[in-house]
Amino acid sequence: MPQVSLTVNGKRETVEVEGRTLLVELLREKLGLTGTHVGCDTSQCGACVVLVDGQSAKSCTMLALQADGASITTVEGLAAADGTLHPMQAMFREHHALQCGFCTPGMVMSAIDLVQSHPEGLTEAQIRHGLEGNLCRCTGYHNIVKAIAAAQKLMHHQQQAQAAE
Ligand code: FES
Ligand code: FES
Repeated sequence: MPQVSLTVNGKRETVEVEGRTLLVELLREKLGLTGTHVGCDTSQCGACVVLVDGQSAKSCTMLALQADGASITTVEGLAAADGTLHPMQAMFREHHALQCGFCTPGMVMSAIDLVQSHPEGLTEAQIRHGLEGNLCRCTGYHNIVKAIAAAQKLMHHQQQAQAAE
């Protein structure tokens, strides 16, 4: 069987896969990272979004072999070693941006990429537009948008502080 070598949440992994194995299957079934969800078989829901080399990607649409050499971040890799939540996770919690939580890992990963790729800041309309690939059956999106708006302030503040160091 072919092998894939990739870095997942900072850890180097080499995994045997079949040619048709999807990245989400590698993460959930081979590495036990079940925080990444599968909510559809039509590439529409966004529950499976992870960061691939820093950019959000639907892991149900990528073959594991395509991730060879890549650096993957899943929701399990966001919190600091001491358990401190990533600002996006913290703001989702503070603003009650989840109900059942099924969409949340994919939503959080998409939102992180959205904020990181807009250092100039996002309006509420841009946040809503940026979430079009992520479906939530529960919340009506209002609190999700509020959480992302709050998190972007924290993330940009952190980036500026790091740049000044
Ligand atoms: S599982 Fe729905 S888009 Fe990937
Ligand atoms: S919180 Fe239930 S699907 Fe989004």
